[in-house]
Amino acid sequence: MNKTQTSITPNVVWHHATVTRARRELQNGHRGAILWFTGLSGAGKSTLAHAVEESLHQMGCRTFVLDGDNVRHGLSGDLGFSPHDRIENIRRIGEVSKLFMEAGVIVLTAFISPYLSDRERVRGMVEHGRFVEIFCDSSLEVCESRDVKGMYKKARTGQIAEFTGITSPYEAPIKPELRVDTGKDELDVCVRQVLDEIMLRGIIK
Ligand code: ADX
Repeated sequence: MNKTQTSITPNVVWHHATVTRARRELQNGHRGAILWFTGLSGAGKSTLAHAVEESLHQMGCRTFVLDGDNVRHGLSGDLGFSPHDRIENIRRIGEVSKLFMEAGVIVLTAFISPYLSDRERVRGMVEHGRFVEIFCDSSLEVCESRDVKGMYKKARTGQIAEFTGITSPYEAPIKPELRVDTGKDELDVCVRQVLDEIMLRGIIK
């Protein structure tokens, strides 16, 4: 954590822990990191994040999934889907993810996170190599044809406003650490790709 970072709250000083991230990582046997899954609604972000978590857990890693639908019941329960609210949603998730990462955990986030600038802000909050952007690339056509939650149908008929991909933009990553073809490839293939990527990056052994 950067102690020189300016705080917006006056008269609050940073308290340094003796149990550092480095010590936690040594104990855990892997690095703390943020695996940031982004993509359209129905692209398979949550499914993939949970499947990757399952594999990591079986390997003995400390993990936690922050999932769009769940977080919006609590931490972001006061937020809707306007640009302003989505920005605030991702800001909160970014801060929470950073705390998990500092705790030595591999945190997997599954949010549409439609704006490039929001994802880049989170990337900039942590050390280089700790933020792994994983683009769950599934076309709108595929997501809409699956329509697991029936939301695309509602968006098309005007029952849901500002729906990503229909009436609200999705800014695809330009240079993600990893792109997975969740629209075409089987789940186990995508899981393997994520595990290989984080092994390559030295997050897990
Ligand atoms: S984000 O844009 O702020 O990152 P988030 O991932 O938290 O979105 O929530 C997306 C989920 O909320 C979708 O999977 C869908 O189930 C639901 N949802 C409800 N309304 C909308 C909307 N207008 N646009 C996108 N998703 C919506």
